[in-house]
Formats: sequence, C-alpha cells, structure tokens
Amino acid sequence: MKALILAGGKGSRLRPITFSTAKQLVPVANKPVIEYGIEAIREAGISDFGIIVGDSHAEIENALGDGSRWEAKFTYIPQVAPLGLAHAVKTAKPYLQDDRFIMYLGDNLIKTGVAGLVEEFKNDAFDASILLTRVPNPEEFGVAELDGDRVVRLEEKPKQPKSDYALVGVYLFGPSVFDAIDVLQPSFRGEYEITDAIQGLIDAGKNVRSHIVTGWWKDTGTVQAMLEANRLILESMSHSIKGEIQDSEIDDTVSVGEGARVVSSCIRGPAIIGPGCVIEHAYVGPFTSIAAGVTLKNAEIEYSIVMDDCRIEDAGRITGSLIGRGVNVTRAARKPASLGLVLGDNSSVTLP
Ligand code: DAU
Repeated sequence: MKALILAGGKGSRLRPITFSTAKQLVPVANKPVIEYGIEAIREAGISDFGIIVGDSHAEIENALGDGSRWEAKFTYIPQVAPLGLAHAVKTAKPYLQDDRFIMYLGDNLIKTGVAGLVEEFKNDAFDASILLTRVPNPEEFGVAELDGDRVVRLEEKPKQPKSDYALVGVYLFGPSVFDAIDVLQPSFRGEYEITDAIQGLIDAGKNVRSHIVTGWWKDTGTVQAMLEANRLILESMSHSIKGEIQDSEIDDTVSVGEGARVVSSCIRGPAIIGPGCVIEHAYVGPFTSIAAGVTLKNAEIEYSIVMDDCRIEDAGRITGSLIGRGVNVTRAARKPASLGLVLGDNSSVTLP
C-alpha cells in the first residue's frame, strides 16, 4: 500500500501564521503537526509516500526532505491550486496508479494511530474505509448519516447536519475512487469534495466500510483546535530535562531542551521548552509549548504555543495564544503607557 498526505491548501483560518508558515508545519508540542501523521503511517508499515503540495511546497520539502529521516521515500506532487481533496487525489493518480492507499490530511492528528486500519484494508475487498467521530460542531466537517452501522449519506459542511458524526481526515481507498472522482462537480464552496466521491461510491453500490474512532482526533485548522491538540499531545508524551535549571520549580511533566536555561522560574507541566531558550523570572503554566531560541523574562504564559526565536519580556499573563516566529512582546520603558502594535494582516489581539 501507498500513503497520500495532503499538505497543500490555504490555511485561511490560521492567518496570519499561515502567511509565512504552511499550516501543516505549525508545531504541536514542538513538532510540525504533519510529522505525527507521517509517524503513524510509518508505524503501519508503509514507506512509499506521495505528498501533495501547493504554494508552500518549498517550505514543506525543506522541512521534510526525501523521507530518509523516517526510512521512507517521499514523492512530492504539486497541485496547481487548492481545488479540493478529490482534486488532490486525482492529481496523484500517476503516482498512486492501481495501488490501494491511505489518504491522510496533513493537519489532522489521531490518537489511536492507523496500523489496525491499514492491516484490515490491505487484506479485505472494500473499495473505501472511512473514519467517523462524534463532534459538537458537525456543520464544520463532512457529516455521515448512518442506518445502524451502515453509512447511507455523506454531506460536506451541511447547514443542517443529519447527525453529529464527522468524517475524520483519514481515508483508505482502492482504485475505484478515481471513477467516482471523474464524474464530480464542484461543491457550493467551489471544491471537488472527497465526501462527494465517497457518496458516489456508495451510490454505485461499492463497499464502503466505516469505523467509529474512539480515542481523540483533532483537525488543527483553527487556533483553538491547535491549542487543544497541543494539550492532548503534551499530556501523552514522556518528558526529560536536558537544559540547565537554577533556583527553579519544575514539574516532572516538563521537558527542557539542550542548551536551554531556566532561572528563578516556575514551570507547571505538562509543558515543553525548546533548545536554547532562556526562561528567567517567569512562570510557564500547563499545556504550553515553547519552541527553540525563545527568551521569556518577567513574564507568565500558559495554554499557548510560542514558535521559534520569540522574545517575551516584562509582559503580563499570556494565555490561549499562538505566537509566530520571531515575535517581540515587550513593555515600554517610559510613558506613555499605551499599546504599541505592529501586527500583520489578520492578526488578533485580546486585551484584558
Ligand atoms: O479534518 C476533517 C475534514 O477535512 C473532513 O471532515 C471534511 O469532510 C474534509 O472535507 C476536510 O475538511 P476541511 O475543510 O477541514 O479541509 P481543508 O481545506 O482544511 O484541507 C485538509 C487538508 O488538505 C489540509 O492539510 C490542506 C490539504 N489540502 C486541501 C485542499 C482543499 C490540499 O492539499 N489540497 C486541497 O485542494
């Protein structure tokens, strides 16, 4: 079997971060979100990966390389424009040929991994296998209507969802999916939807299997979902201290990277501090990931993601925040005591 990972798209709900970073490379617990998917697929024994890329192809290729880090082979497949998940699959047809494959959305995280699903799909006669899970906001996803455990209807982002079973961003397909894609029309949002292609398979009497996911699943397409994913990964990972700790209180659910210095500070886990950080007279609260080379002085932060090389000094308490690379948050040395903001397009600031 092959794997197809989707790492194109626009990432419009994560702006301004996605103006400069592909959304699949935003770090969750200091690791690009897409790498969790790659690892899950490798654990399932697949080493042949096609990776769909769009405008951010150079950044993705630079970050992931040729796959040798995972003892895998990566083939990058450019998609002319983000015309939909089904369009991405069609674009990958010359790579996939007649092989059965797992398709994994590069911004999705699934706790249980995919090894069991791959094993099952490899050996059975199903044309497609989909994953479903109950969500409180089904209108934001593809939604399945079930009759017992049989899928009768699928709808993409319905205004009036018929159930609260969302389609998870992991799918398994045989080559008959290409016939269903060939006859698709664009949806109301102008995309060729994989949800409609699966409906086409059902309508054509093909065998579509569904599984209900029991562990957690996250589509990290929004800031809130990204912070939630960060919390879930931090809760389940193991922790270690490699940096230098002075006069500080640190929980045993905290990781501190090489070359980092924590001085006169308190860190409550689960949390991760990247290599080369300086944390001084600071409080880092639970569910916080701080990437490499960050300086945090006289400041407090919790339930947040801070990307590389930021400087946060003399700030108050920061919570529920996603802070991009190289950001400075400091306090004015003299009056007027007013906010001085340099914010990119689509930034958001919540004042106390
Ligand atoms: O996350 C699960 C949901 O993913 C499903 O419930 C929906 O049925 C499915 O359509 C999809 O919805 P999203 O609106 O969240 O998809 P998004 O546009 O965020 O794209 C998902 C991934 O695929 C993301 O990593 C970007 C990539 N992509 C997207 C498009 C539209 C591509 O590589 N090419 C594309 O043309």
